[in-house]
Amino acid sequence: MTLMLEAEARRALWQRLQEAIERYAVEVETAPVAPAADPAAIRERLAGFDFAAPSDPLAALGFAVDGLWRDQVHAAHPRYFGLFNPAPTTASIAADALVAAFNPQLAAWSHSPFAVEVEQHLIRALAERFGYDPARVEGSFTTGGAEANQTALQVALIRAFPEVARRGLLALRSQPLVYVSPEGHHSILKAARLAGLGAEAVREIRTDSRLRMRTDDLAARIREDREAGSSPFLVVANAGTTGSGIIDPLEEIAQVADEERLWLHVDAAWGGAAALVPELRPALEGIARAGSITFDAHKQLSVPMGAGLFLTRHPGLLERTFRVTTPYMPKEGGAGPVVDPYAQSMQWSRRFIGLKVFLSLAVAGWEGYEAALRHQTAMGDRLRDGLRAAGWTVVNETPLPLVCFVGAERESRTPAFLEAVAARVVASGEAWINTVGLSGDVGTALRACITNYRTGPEDVDALIAAVDRARADLC
Ligand SMILES: Cc1ncc(COP(=O)(O)O)c(C=O)c1O
Repeated sequence: MTLMLEAEARRALWQRLQEAIERYAVEVETAPVAPAADPAAIRERLAGFDFAAPSDPLAALGFAVDGLWRDQVHAAHPRYFGLFNPAPTTASIAADALVAAFNPQLAAWSHSPFAVEVEQHLIRALAERFGYDPARVEGSFTTGGAEANQTALQVALIRAFPEVARRGLLALRSQPLVYVSPEGHHSILKAARLAGLGAEAVREIRTDSRLRMRTDDLAARIREDREAGSSPFLVVANAGTTGSGIIDPLEEIAQVADEERLWLHVDAAWGGAAALVPELRPALEGIARAGSITFDAHKQLSVPMGAGLFLTRHPGLLERTFRVTTPYMPKEGGAGPVVDPYAQSMQWSRRFIGLKVFLSLAVAGWEGYEAALRHQTAMGDRLRDGLRAAGWTVVNETPLPLVCFVGAERESRTPAFLEAVAARVVASGEAWINTVGLSGDVGTALRACITNYRTGPEDVDALIAAVDRARADLC
């Protein structure tokens, strides 16, 4: 039987799997950060699998391990200074393997009481870090920040226009509007499209010279749009933008949202981790005033992909948005009130997302994360200082470890020059960085983020040396 292998074959497979995981953890730093991938070569290797006959399990596993080594950007490499992709913690890798093996079904509480209670426990614990009352918070684990942001938009829409749940957007006499800065994540745009509001329902608010949302512009735009007959309902503020790690003035934005009676959602997918570090927490001042928060554990909490979180301090709204009744779902169990996750989220059948967060947090404790995040912050500061000392100009201002920079002269600020620098660094295999387009006068910049808790001073110095070399070659 090839679906359930025999005991001996299973043992051999588990052992090989464990060796592959351990080798990757130890040796990833010896690999080029970004291999030059060739789609034709990958497809040619895959052509050997027509599935007409069963493959040897060890050979098939070896093929997958080899492919992963060869053809991916190694985000787990300490010299990956890219987007918010983590090197997973040891405990979270074990958790994901365990989840695959036990495969709990998290649609209904009664099928997976332990798993649902673990997630609810985490929702309360993490929400408290943001200043929410754990006794009143509700939330759901999502596939990531995009789903959490979409959840926010849906929840805010149904709260503002309850009739939409039954009659759809045609029930409305005016256009619902969302406000976000141009630095906001584009999942908001997607969410507006998916909700049927359309991309034009997303109003971009101007940023100040520090790339933060301008609250005077926000207030003015809301007023103008109301006068024009539209219906503002949602403001999305950023706590750590994707491009430059900027934190919007959350307290001031909350004030405008309150005055205008709008739902405030804070996208803290990456920057929310600042809530775990006492000296960084003040940067998030005002976040507890938000109606809802997006936080991605698969970013700064360094667990494998597929771990986002939506939190709200308004109980009942998730169910109002997502609950449907069916004749086939298992009924709630337990002695007291319990949560059926399918009634509080977009997902139905789903994996136990929270276990990787739970095991990782259990093993590291808050103090383990605090130390790791503090280290990453220090590496960000070292990078910022080192780049300045080498004659680069830093163009973003954030306490978080994300540095955007350009050359000092006009020629070394052009998009073509900066893209050439990034391409050279990536092609060398020594490190991974990219360029980013920022709003206002800033334009294109090189972007380097400390995404990895294993990135040390020598890695930061190597990146500075690599960008310096690329600049010298190009000049
Ligand atoms: C600020 C922010 N929000 C939302 C998202 C979307 O998150 P995900 O990719 O986990 O869906 C990202 C992704 O990087 C992000 O940086």
